[in-house]
Amino acid sequence: MSAQCRILVVYYSRSGTTQRIAELLASELCADLEAIREPGELAARAGARGYVRSLIDVLCHRQVKVMPRIHDLSAYDAVIVGSPVWASHASAPALAWLKQHGTAIRHLALFCSLGGSGSESALEQMAKAAGKSPLATCAITARDLQRRIDGTKRQGFGQKIRHRLAKLHEAEWMA
Ligand SMILES: Cc1cc2nc3c(=O)[nH]c(=O)nc-3n(C[C@H](O)[C@H](O)[C@H](O)COP(=O)(O)O)c2cc1C
Repeated sequence: MSAQCRILVVYYSRSGTTQRIAELLASELCADLEAIREPGELAARAGARGYVRSLIDVLCHRQVKVMPRIHDLSAYDAVIVGSPVWASHASAPALAWLKQHGTAIRHLALFCSLGGSGSESALEQMAKAAGKSPLATCAITARDLQRRIDGTKRQGFGQKIRHRLAKLHEAEWMA
């Protein structure tokens, strides 16, 4: 991690879309990257059974377990957390991670990937789980990917985060 790049991108991804967005974002922002993982057998959410379990987890507000974090959050100015949207909710593993680590995050930004609807409620839920208002949010839909406007959206999101962080640092220096 370079001295100027104190951003960590954390994501949960069941089928790879959120992971790809997180990887590109981390590369564009010169940020570190960490995946949210579930322990043991619970990690497998593939196929119809995994789909149904994922739905039940969010609809029943089940508390799921996630693996311990790898990076030291106090070393970062901002943590960007990404999740897929499940039934207009944020994914259960991303919510569990945010609930555990929200208080240790200095500044938060959030993104989600989705088919087409439910991003607002999912992003609100993520902010609530972390107990923090995000600096910026971004939702990338399947249509954005098809129309190839995901890059523009992602880069705009990254620029907004950098800009907000610069303003916050300026204010801290002035205080
Ligand atoms: C259980 C489940 C529920 C979903 N519910 C929604 C939904 O409410 N709205 C939506 O737009 N997409 C929904 N999707 C689609 C995912 O949000 C979308 O495919 C996302 O990009 C997947 O990200 P991933 O590949 O990182 O897991 C759902 C997918 C799953 C598995």
